[in-house]
Amino acid sequence: MTASRIGVLVSGNGSNLDALLSASRRGDLPEIALVLANVAGCRALSRAEEARVPARFLDPRAAPSREAYDEALAAELGEARIDLVCLAGFMRLVGRPLLERFAGRVLNIHPSLLPAFPGLHAPRQAVAAGVRVSGCTVHFVDAGLDTGAVIAQAAVPVQLDDTEESLAARILEQEHRLFPAAAAWVARGEVALEAGRARWRSPPQRAEGAIACPRTDRP
Ligand code: GAR
Repeated sequence: MTASRIGVLVSGNGSNLDALLSASRRGDLPEIALVLANVAGCRALSRAEEARVPARFLDPRAAPSREAYDEALAAELGEARIDLVCLAGFMRLVGRPLLERFAGRVLNIHPSLLPAFPGLHAPRQAVAAGVRVSGCTVHFVDAGLDTGAVIAQAAVPVQLDDTEESLAARILEQEHRLFPAAAAWVARGEVALEAGRARWRSPPQRAEGAIACPRTDRP
């Protein structure tokens, strides 16, 4: 596929949203045409407003069910003619109404090398487990918790004196490089979801380069 209008779902600080907005301004990514938040007044919403991107809080409590909320999200994205959805710190499981409408077109960034440490507080989990390497993952979203097909990963060494905060900060730096790069590959149709796997159309060396991120700001 090729995508021309990106929608971003957010819940919190929005630093990944900023990285996507910057990539779009540089011409490395298509237009960010809509930002939707499930948390009122989150910093990500004000970042979108500062960037003059249409942005809205969609109240989960106003929806009678989880499914109805997902339908509302999907309807907003559809009305804005979004063709690629990026979850940038969206701290809520997305369900079938959205995944069916945007099949193979929903991406998430997660602060661990999945399948290790899914769910909340991934850097905290990595420090507690005593692993020497962690990182971040961009994957296609499925109905599970951080279980979809991996597109790209960046490795980050864990230092012996790392705290959750220090590790999370170094991982975040890599997220800001990895997410725009991976979203651009998907938007250009260089990688697509096929039979539950990320399938690459570009030469294999490009796919190998995606595994360790630090060289991917200009894919
Ligand atoms: C990021 O570290 C992102 O990977 C994580 O939340 C943070 C959001 O930061 N997402 C998850 O843990 C999803 N399971 P941001 O709002 O500054 O982009």
